[in-house]
Amino acid sequence: MAQSRPTTNNVGIPVASDDHSLTLGPNGPILLQDHYLIEKNAQFNRERVPERVVHAKGGGAFGFFQVTEDISQFTKAALFQPSTTTDVLVRFSTVAGELGSPDTWRDPRGFAMKFYTTQGNYDIVGNNTPVFFIRDPIKFPDFIRSQKRRADNHLRDNNMQWDFWTLRPESAHQVTWLMGDRGLPKTWRNMNGYGSHTFLWENASGERFWIKYHFKTEQGIDFLTQADADEMAGTDGDYHIRDLWTAIDSGNAPSWRLEVQVMPYADAADYRFNPFDLTKVWPHEDYPPITVGRMVLNRNPANYFADVEQVAFNPANVPPGIGFSPDKMLQGRLFSYGDAQRYRLGVNHYQIPVNAPRCPFTNFHRDGQMRVDGNAGGTLHYEPNSYGQWQEQPDYREPPLSVEGAADHWDHRKDDDYYSQPGALFRLMTHAQQQALFDNTARATGDAPEDIKLRHARNCGKADPEYGAGVLQALGFSPQAIGK
Ligand code: HEM
Repeated sequence: MAQSRPTTNNVGIPVASDDHSLTLGPNGPILLQDHYLIEKNAQFNRERVPERVVHAKGGGAFGFFQVTEDISQFTKAALFQPSTTTDVLVRFSTVAGELGSPDTWRDPRGFAMKFYTTQGNYDIVGNNTPVFFIRDPIKFPDFIRSQKRRADNHLRDNNMQWDFWTLRPESAHQVTWLMGDRGLPKTWRNMNGYGSHTFLWENASGERFWIKYHFKTEQGIDFLTQADADEMAGTDGDYHIRDLWTAIDSGNAPSWRLEVQVMPYADAADYRFNPFDLTKVWPHEDYPPITVGRMVLNRNPANYFADVEQVAFNPANVPPGIGFSPDKMLQGRLFSYGDAQRYRLGVNHYQIPVNAPRCPFTNFHRDGQMRVDGNAGGTLHYEPNSYGQWQEQPDYREPPLSVEGAADHWDHRKDDDYYSQPGALFRLMTHAQQQALFDNTARATGDAPEDIKLRHARNCGKADPEYGAGVLQALGFSPQAIGK
């Protein structure tokens, strides 16, 4: 039997009344000295809506996506049919900083898109880089913690950041992107967006293709120098939010061209590397990008909290004609976002206007916090029932996907090619860009211990000996130090 418990306030003071506020006369105003009433409500007010666990700082805008080419041979998805126009919301962000952190800290940028399609919302939750730091979602919390704050003094720490990166050499590709010019985009308008993962497309005949998304900026790629970014962090921490808002407000709507790389379904089985490895790109010589359409952002949010803070992007949101790949990272994300949003915004977050589909949607989920839509009144909330309510839609089933193999903690390090693609990226850079990469790396490693810096220089040297030598020199080591 439940034990009876006397109610006290947070410091153990007995609560004399939990039903009646302290008022001046039976119908009079409430007295401010009713500290329990205030504590109870203040506590309640603060129970929900934490900032995003990652990508907390960001800004966004509305617009549209228009298909300009006919790519219906690859997908039946309604939003990609010729000449279709779909409303979109895009949120840009930094990854590691908190809600109030400067926009110009070196970091990948989030590039999350919500397409309000006629067959449900489609979310592409990408970054401004085509690859990522890790290959397995089991390492995501470790990776993020190493980039955020120390447990003891709550400071960010070069030691942790570079310790993790250098011990997980599959991060070398993304670290090379990050320490190069693209780690500090001039504005959100001056960067590309990438879906990064491999996704599945299915056409009207049931034929399937593996694809990758590239949103190419039509404003041109541009970036900040480290010195400019540092100054901006002090003088205008919200520089990127301000830039996007001002551009749209003054009628200067930014745009991106969507291109896709398309791999025939059967190619994946014997492609020369795992095409579902998020630390690698598909070389354009193998799968040249095909233009699909154009995205334009032309409307600022009316209310930041309602439209941007409360928006919930989820890689699991895919309409018919689009599916998932076996990319382990994507598979992990299919769980994480909905879970995070149930915590951050509540179980009914899909009803918040910015998250609600623009097409009709009808389900028989009921109740829960912040249910504000009438809870579907008296409609039946079970299935099967004798009244023909709640029919599943088998026409939208994906064709069966064959998978085989034994369940195991398979070692993704069987592929130890961590360095060929960062090496190729390095060799694409001009000498000036390479020098900036060396200098940025040296600056970013800061006060990390020498052995960690050397480990990084060694990893860079495996990508390209000149990369290793340049980093070593920028770090102030002698050329011989790399052998130690
Ligand atoms: C296993 C790997 C990953 C996990 C577990 C993960 C998890 C999360 C979580 C929990 C959030 C907060 C969601 C919210 O509260 O609304 C988030 C946000 C975000 N993630 Fe990831 N993430 C992963 C990898 C990635 C990758 C590879 C990309 C890009 C290619 C990415 C891009 C983003 C973006 C852009 C946001 C912010 C979305 C917004 O603007 O609201 N994440 N991630």
